[in-house]
Amino acid sequence: MMMKLAILKETEEGEHRVALIPDSIKRLSQKGFAVLVEAGAGSSAGYSDQEYEQAGATLVSSAQKLAEQADCVVKVRPPSLEEVEVLRNSSVFIAILQPALRLDLVKKLAEKQITSFGLDLIPRTTLAQSMDVLSSMSTIAGYKAVLLAADTINRFFPMLMTAAGTIAPAKVLVIGAGVAGLMACATAKRLGGVVEAFDVRPEVKEQVHSVGAKFIEVPVNEDGSGGGGYAKVMSDEYKQKQAELISRHISKSDVVIPTALIPGRKAPILISEEQVASMKPGSVIVDLAAEMGGNCALTQPGQTIIAHGVTIIGHSNLPSSLSFHASQMLSRNIEKFLLHLCDEKGFQMNMEDEITRGSLVTKDGKVIHELTSK
Ligand code: NAI
Repeated sequence: MMMKLAILKETEEGEHRVALIPDSIKRLSQKGFAVLVEAGAGSSAGYSDQEYEQAGATLVSSAQKLAEQADCVVKVRPPSLEEVEVLRNSSVFIAILQPALRLDLVKKLAEKQITSFGLDLIPRTTLAQSMDVLSSMSTIAGYKAVLLAADTINRFFPMLMTAAGTIAPAKVLVIGAGVAGLMACATAKRLGGVVEAFDVRPEVKEQVHSVGAKFIEVPVNEDGSGGGGYAKVMSDEYKQKQAELISRHISKSDVVIPTALIPGRKAPILISEEQVASMKPGSVIVDLAAEMGGNCALTQPGQTIIAHGVTIIGHSNLPSSLSFHASQMLSRNIEKFLLHLCDEKGFQMNMEDEITRGSLVTKDGKVIHELTSK
């Protein structure tokens, strides 16, 4: 097999990651991929053109020249319609696609007979763990959310005994203890905060304890597990009890990090304006669910606002700010994904395979992905 694999430079403003780094290219070249890289693709993540060349990649000066030759193109963010335009008909395209949010894009990919895979659709199964781009990026978001909060609050995180008196530790409330939430708990704990976490899935209690945080249980006998490590929509009774508990805890918290997500849906609103108003002035909410609308009623996706004296951060691309390690993690995930999809003859479209079926968005002019094609 001599499949031509191309790495595009990201074009979205503020996007500093790259889909594959030189380390992966060495291994992919050994497996028979011929790798082409758009000049400068890795530079804002800290990977130079020279490193790509040393790893065996060929540099190409423009996206157009690259796409014309490629059998398969990889990228981080969903492409613009112009980027899809330059792809070769019937080639393979891999990126975070967010198809449910980008129906125009999906239509265009299908029209060009592109076989497209969404990295964000790879199922959260044991076998796919090494390819799970969303978990990698959530790990970064959870970490960075705490650093942003620490940088914004008007207090220390750790407890300090100083000659100028005792400083109380920051109180941190994490809502949704999945990948991002657990990383936020662990990071806040390391900085010396006192950390509490909520989740609708009771099975995460032990994990919350293991990172040094306290688990807050809603007193309703209802399991929120919706399969695949994700949550389901809860009953009204649960929501009401949870809201009461959040009210009680939020007014004492200096930092709140909501991360609650139900796949394919708008984020549930878990923090009302009244609850924000009950927080101390100078406290901070970092709403990790901002991209899906936010868990806080006042969140403005992509923006930082101050309401009732509380700073609400709705940053929607935190992983890009850790571009070096975000690219390293993405690259390893994408490398494993490519090796899973391909054998020595090229792409094996095995529709019996859960990972292939789950992540395939368009093929042969049709929209394959279940949720998107509805
Ligand atoms: P996850 O599915 O692993 O975690 C979400 C957690 O929230 C789950 O444990 C779930 O049980 C819990 N949850 C759902 N509904 C709830 C409710 N009503 N009350 C309490 N808990 C509830 O998801 P992951 O990977 O940790 O991602 C979390 C969020 O972070 C997502 O919204 C994701 O889009 C976002 N994210 C944001 C980034 C950014 O830059 N802002 C970057 C990466 C991820």
